[in-house]
Amino acid sequence: MTQDDASKKNFERLLSRMNPLVEQALKRYAWPESGAPKRIVDAMNYSLQAGGKRLRPMLVLAGCEAVGGELEPALPVAAAFEMIHTYSLIHDDLPAMDDDDLRRGQPTCHKAFDEATAILAGDAMATYAFQAILTHVKDATKAVAAGRELATGAGLEGMVGGQMADLEGEGREPSIDELRYIHEHKTGALITSAVVCGGIMGGADAETLKRLRSYGKSIGLAFQVVDDILDETATAEQLGKSPGKDSATDKMTYPRLYGLDGAKRYAEELISKACAELEGMQNAEALRTIAAYFVARTH
Ligand code: IPE
Ligand code: IPE
Ligand code: MG
Ligand code: MG
Ligand code: MG
Repeated sequence: MTQDDASKKNFERLLSRMNPLVEQALKRYAWPESGAPKRIVDAMNYSLQAGGKRLRPMLVLAGCEAVGGELEPALPVAAAFEMIHTYSLIHDDLPAMDDDDLRRGQPTCHKAFDEATAILAGDAMATYAFQAILTHVKDATKAVAAGRELATGAGLEGMVGGQMADLEGEGREPSIDELRYIHEHKTGALITSAVVCGGIMGGADAETLKRLRSYGKSIGLAFQVVDDILDETATAEQLGKSPGKDSATDKMTYPRLYGLDGAKRYAEELISKACAELEGMQNAEALRTIAAYFVARTH
């Protein structure tokens, strides 16, 4: 068995332990039936329930576990991360952005519904994430800290800033600094905040949160490096989204800068760096497993 196969197997085991908790969290803390127009709620459910790897909520739980926290109180926060992530995918796929037809193995939200509905479904999901945290996290100090962390990772200083830079980078020669900014923000920031929020919910001290943040930053960047590789090498069946989009739209990517092998080596280095931050942490096996999966994954 190759290293990558072993990593995937470990991840499958972790998934069977954590996925039921994540799905339960989404059922419990996502929007209830309400008086809102059925069409927007249908669009939100369509995108959220389409599956997806649920990595960000898993990272919340794994971060919480690593610092010895109880998982139950972290569940609303885990659900909130999947809401923000799913909204980001809906908007990322819009014609004005990446203009994609396929997501999570089904037509994108704006294809299945319409553009205005997709925009509003994304808006509602992004705000609902904070509603879920502020309603269901009972410890007010933790709710504030987790809410601020999520907002920072998702917003101007995080994912949204990165998405803007990603669009501005189209059609230009990649530069190391710019590419790093794009990937650390459009993808890395939310992944980092997920791990840190896990630590917050688990009651970690400032020094431990710093190490979790550094771990998150490295795996977050590695995740997007691998996303770029898979965009060139994987099939639509494997990905559940259309491959070949980055070269078609002339995006700045790591394979363009370093080649496919160089990009994979870079991702592996980042994962080693991330795992070094976990040394001495008692319950960090889940974080190690997720890190290894981030480079081994084929979808
Ligand atoms: C896709 O994220 C968007 C990126 C940040 C690269 P995932 O690969 O985690 O997508 P899902 O949640 O499994 O659909
Ligand atoms: C997406 O990056 C980052 C997001 C915030 C959604 P990509 O545009 O490469 O993600 P995919 O490949 O469409 O999933
Ligand atoms: Mg994009
Ligand atoms: Mg995209
Ligand atoms: Mg991509």
